Amino acid sequence: MAGILDRFKETVEEVKETVSGKKVKVGIIGTGWIAEAHVANYKQCEDVEIVAAADLIPGKAEKFCKANGLSGVRLYPDHKSMVDAEELDAVSVCTYNKTHAECTIYALEHGVNVLLEKPMCVTLDEAVAICKAEKASGKILSIGFQPRFDPNMQMLKKIVQSGELGRIYYIQTGGGRRRGIPTPYGTSFIEEKTAGIGALGDIGCYSLDMVLNAIGYPKPLTVTGYTSAFFGKDPAYFTNHPEYADVFSVDDFAAAFVRLEGDVILDFRISWAMNLDTPGDTIILGTKGGLRVPSTECWNGSIGGPLKIYRTVAGEEIEYEVPEKEDNVDNFYKKIRLFIDAVKEGGEPPVPSSQIIYNQAIIDGIAKSAALGREITLDIPEI
Ligand SMILES: NC(=O)c1ccc[n+]([C@@H]2O[C@H](COP(=O)([O-])OP(=O)(O)OC[C@H]3O[C@@H](n4cnc5c(N)ncnc54)[C@H](O)[C@@H]3O)[C@@H](O)[C@H]2O)c1
Repeated sequence: MAGILDRFKETVEEVKETVSGKKVKVGIIGTGWIAEAHVANYKQCEDVEIVAAADLIPGKAEKFCKANGLSGVRLYPDHKSMVDAEELDAVSVCTYNKTHAECTIYALEHGVNVLLEKPMCVTLDEAVAICKAEKASGKILSIGFQPRFDPNMQMLKKIVQSGELGRIYYIQTGGGRRRGIPTPYGTSFIEEKTAGIGALGDIGCYSLDMVLNAIGYPKPLTVTGYTSAFFGKDPAYFTNHPEYADVFSVDDFAAAFVRLEGDVILDFRISWAMNLDTPGDTIILGTKGGLRVPSTECWNGSIGGPLKIYRTVAGEEIEYEVPEKEDNVDNFYKKIRLFIDAVKEGGEPPVPSSQIIYNQAIIDGIAKSAALGREITLDIPEI
């Protein structure tokens, strides 16, 4: 349907400079936990060469390269010195959330394509600045939402887009963990100065992407948000590191009621820690059918079991499960490979910022509404 309507749109083909025919030179910004997954998957791509790495912590990039079998990689103390000194085709921004915007904007302004880890950033203002830099640069920017490449997630979108459920009017999404504040590698997820946002951004962005991508990313209009931090601020929570409670300065739970363009209601909740196993499955209600997406224990954007469809057929209320799909290709590999393909051939980024800016606007709206204690109207500029 959308494809048919799109044929009437006037489209201006953007001509992007590409790097086809030679090895794509990649630099890694931030050599922490997730950078390992980037490197492991770049190494699977024969047309990619990791030439540089940067980290603010002295010695960290060097140790990282040794541990990950990277030799001959030039090392830098921050993103700027690396981008200035190297002739890079692309960077992976693998820093904590608070420096996503500055690293991404700097790279784009210097003509470098960017694969940016999720969440896009911390605030809507930062997201707007990133989108503007992307537009001015003409480079590829893709945001790191690998769950999108899961065939079951794609099936979810296909079902919704097929019209099988009728007009979608209500969505409940989110999930979370009973005890799962992420501190395996220190405190960068739980300090405001590095993470900026807690569960809301870290795993909330996945829940939002799951459903917004399925329904075609309508513009969010208003948000009533709530956040709390009862577990993170309790020293008893961190049995081996009670001192973590002193630096915990983000949310560990968030809930919201969001109105989307097209008169769709989004009911959202997310948790790093709570006294329950799950705050509920994701459900999508349409006029012809309903869909249930089972939650998971470790909420990270994955699907916890077969999708279930509820319909009335021949006057009978029936439910059926959609057989689970498996394609044996790692989702993280797909995220890296599709980004490199876009860098080489030009065209659309696999996960475009034009969609994820709405994801970020909701996250920012929830944080702001929670602080104000009232509903807010979102003001998202056209880029
Ligand atoms: N896609 C996924 O599955 C997934 C999984 C985990 C984390 N993440 C995301 O990846 C990001 C990083 O998470 P992490 O666990 O690797 O964090 P981390 O704290 O282990 O590593 C981040 C590193 O970035 C460095 N850094 C920060 N600013 C920098 C700058 N300007 N220049 C150079 N280095 C800089 C820090 O010194 C740190 O070593 C987060 O935004 C997180 O949400 C994504």
